[in-house]
Formats: sequence, C-alpha cells, structure tokens
Amino acid sequence: MSSKDLQSYVNSLLLSQYLRKPIIKSIIQSMQLPTSSTGLDLGCGIGLNTILLAEVLGPCGQVIGLDREEEMLLKARSLLSKSEVNERISLEKGDVGNLPFPDKSFDWACSIDCVGAIAVDPVPLLKEVIRVVKPGGQVFIIIWSSQSILPGFPLLEARLNASSAGIAPFAIGMAPEMHTMRALGWFKQAGFTDNRAQTFIRDICPPLKAEIIAAMTDLFNMRWGSIEKEVAPELWHDYQRLCRPDSPDFILKIPDYYAFFTYSVFSGRVQ
Ligand SMILES: C[S@@+](CC[C@H](N)C(=O)[O-])C[C@H]1O[C@@H](n2cnc3c(N)ncnc32)[C@H](O)[C@@H]1O
Repeated sequence: MSSKDLQSYVNSLLLSQYLRKPIIKSIIQSMQLPTSSTGLDLGCGIGLNTILLAEVLGPCGQVIGLDREEEMLLKARSLLSKSEVNERISLEKGDVGNLPFPDKSFDWACSIDCVGAIAVDPVPLLKEVIRVVKPGGQVFIIIWSSQSILPGFPLLEARLNASSAGIAPFAIGMAPEMHTMRALGWFKQAGFTDNRAQTFIRDICPPLKAEIIAAMTDLFNMRWGSIEKEVAPELWHDYQRLCRPDSPDFILKIPDYYAFFTYSVFSGRVQ
C-alpha cells in the first residue's frame, strides 16, 4: 500500500469508529469475556477495537492484537500508548492463516471486519484459529452485514449496492457458501460446536453531529466512490447529487435524515 493509500485507509478507520464504536461496544459486552482471560484480536488494524476488548477485561486480562501489516501495527502502537488499557494489550505481526503462537495459547479469539471481509477461504483460517484457542474457548467473527443509508432512494441504493463494491469481498461466480451470511457453515465445517449467530443494529438519528456527518460522507465514498464505470450515467449523477457534501441536495442535509447499519456476530466453541 502506498503511504497515501495507507493514510486514507487509516483515516477511514478512524472516521468509521464514530459509527462503529457504540455497536461494537454492545457486541463486546454481549460476548461476556472472562475478566482475567487472554484473547486474540485477529486483523486488529490500528487497534481501535482491541482497546474496546481490553476495556471489558480486568487488570489481569490480556489481548494480543495481530495484523499482517507492519504500518497498521505502527499506528496501533501510537494509539495504544495514549490508552488507559495499554498495559493489557500487546501487538504481533502475523497472518491469520499461519498464526505465530503455540497451540492452545488463548481463552478466546475474535475478528472484527477481517475474517469474512477478506477474499480468502475462511474455513482454513478458522481451523488455524482453533489450533491456538483452548478447548471450551469461544471464537467470534464480527462483521458489518448490511445498511440502509439513502432514505427515500431505495432503488438507487439497491442499484449502487448491485456493484462489485456493494457485494465485496463476495464476487460474481463465487460459491454461495463463501458469502458472509453463510458463516455458521464455516464454523460447522471447521469443527466448532455451539455455533450461533446474532445481528446488532446501529441507528443514525437526527440531529447529526459533525463527526457523524464526516463518517457517513466517508462511508458513501468508501462503498460507492469507485463504481462509476459499473453504473449508468444517470445513477452516477444521482449518487453524486445525494452523497457529495458540496451538492445542494446532499442527503445528510435533510433535517430528518435517518439511517441504520448492522453487524452480525457468528461464534462457535472449540471442542
Ligand atoms: C477493515 S480492517 C479492520 C481492523 C480492525 N479489526 C477494526 O475493526 O478496526 C482489516 C484489517 O485486517 C488486516 N488483515 C487482512 N488480512 C489479514 C490476514 N490474512 N492476516 C492478518 N491480518 C489481516 C488488515 O491489514 C487490516 O488491518
């Protein structure tokens, strides 16, 4: 990744946290992680949610954040140094498919917007995760699963979503079993028990704070900003009219703008 791309990726992660933090916090609460446990955050990025995981553990709890990108870990280190739970977190460079840890190292593991959001067969990844989690420990895949963010324009939103960016990392021709919403099957195939799925919702209600407007603007761009060649010119025109902050019809200017998005949590227990 070029340093410009990296900066814009990191910026998007920071902005998206204004949207994600409340919902991820609720999800983490629901996971009931044992207070003094040691857990693994797979694909921790810049550590935004590693901090939230560490916050629910007690002073003897530990979270190891793993990411394959050195630049992400560098940013995570600087962010963590300002966090009150810095002592409970360590960071490791490594790949989810080939974890640099001995067998049965962790009480639990979770992946937030990583496993399932990357175009890699998730079953071998989950098998590798089983190796490093102790029997009885839980593994969680937490993943952005849907959104309704263009109120009043359902057809435009559906058409924009019917693009490669809208369905990524799923691609036309991929086996249906590879779609995120089939993640319960991944857990079953990898050999987990007690497999569960639950969906959480985040409402975006008026009045919109400046940081929410910035995060939603970035989200519009992240989801659909690169699909001009895939959609009809009039759709692209409507997308720009509604989703660009410099447009007089910018949708976030509607006083009653309401949107929501969901995160789905898939989990299983190591036998
Ligand atoms: C969308 S970010 C999510 C980061 C973080 N979990 C969060 O919620 O803010 C996905 C992260 O997964 C990392 N990643 C992708 N594939 C990976 C792999 N095979 N092994 C380790 N990390 C990976 C990327 O480098 C990136 O930092």
